[in-house]
Amino acid sequence: MSRPLRWGLLGTGTIASLFAEDLVHCDEGTCAAVASRSSERAEAFAEAHRTEHAFASYDALIASDAVDIVYIGTPHPFHAAQALQCIEAGKPVLVEKPFAMSAAEADKVRRAAQRAGVFAMEAMWTAFIPAVQRALVLVEQQTLGALQTVRADLSVRRPFDAAHRLYDPDLGGGVLLDLGVYAVWWAHRLLGTPASCTVDATCGATGVEEDVTATLSYNKGREAVLTTSFREQGTRLAHATGTNGTLRLHAPWWHGQALSLTGRSVDTETYDHSFAGHGYHFEAQHVHECLREGRTESPVLPLADTVAVLHTLDEMRATIGLEPW
Ligand SMILES: NC(=O)c1ccc[n+]([C@@H]2O[C@H](COP(=O)([O-])OP(=O)(O)OC[C@H]3O[C@@H](n4cnc5c(N)ncnc54)[C@H](OP(=O)(O)O)[C@@H]3O)[C@@H](O)[C@H]2O)c1
Repeated sequence: MSRPLRWGLLGTGTIASLFAEDLVHCDEGTCAAVASRSSERAEAFAEAHRTEHAFASYDALIASDAVDIVYIGTPHPFHAAQALQCIEAGKPVLVEKPFAMSAAEADKVRRAAQRAGVFAMEAMWTAFIPAVQRALVLVEQQTLGALQTVRADLSVRRPFDAAHRLYDPDLGGGVLLDLGVYAVWWAHRLLGTPASCTVDATCGATGVEEDVTATLSYNKGREAVLTTSFREQGTRLAHATGTNGTLRLHAPWWHGQALSLTGRSVDTETYDHSFAGHGYHFEAQHVHECLREGRTESPVLPLADTVAVLHTLDEMRATIGLEPW
């Protein structure tokens, strides 16, 4: 067997730690390097996660021969430029969600990756969570009949802190790109690109949207009803309803461990898909497979889909009067 792929992580924040912890569940990958804007933070992270190399600059990690693939875990506004830098250096790259701040930025990265023949993917881990994958198979098998309505709630209470990236406009703050992106991905995955959308939002003291209710409309009266908020702890459920029944992903649905089916023509049944770890190892494992197969894009999460989701998010942002990035 060839040696494990050596991951290099940009950033030492919350998600970088969770991702590093989950790499221990992957046979084919290892957390080999971390980079921070500060050497102290890089070294502390390397010690905590038994990481061989600690770089005091992102540039040094991207250029390093000790790294086979880069994982970008910095705030959203830095994703596109850092991904472009990886692609230019010939390094495959997994970019945290949202892949970029707008569809235009994401498309620039997509085109660069295609031109260079370098693998790039959004870290939309939900697409690889076993319960979500089971749900998608059940929908494809027409278990629910013809799909009519999709619902998703991503309301996770985050106490207000003007300096935190979630609330700071300069760090890409706002609930739509942080949590809403999952709900829009779910709607796109099941119903495709909407024909139109209506969006109701409440903005807070820093001007970013903190609470959003949206309806995405499709032909034949189909719709996706999405709620996302930093202001309250919501149901954190997702549903897909068709002519024969309803499927419910248990909370927190975007990384949940079970789903239930119910309905007039569908037997009530719960499927257990429990797993160890946080759930980031499934996307990492998929990246390993893609690289082993010599792919430059994921067949499960193609970049065109990532761009399309961001296009809908652009429209939603415009509808509530937010400036384009
Ligand atoms: N998939 C998921 O479940 C999930 C969960 C949480 C977050 N995320 C995504 O991951 C990204 C990071 O989120 P997070 O919650 O990990 O954020 P965080 O805790 O604030 O960490 C972000 C890290 O980025 C680095 N960074 C670089 N430039 C920065 C700047 N100007 N200001 C602040 N930090 C900067 C910092 O590392 P150094 O200072 O060491 O360089 C910092 O530790 C976001 O895009 C978010 O959407 C995904």
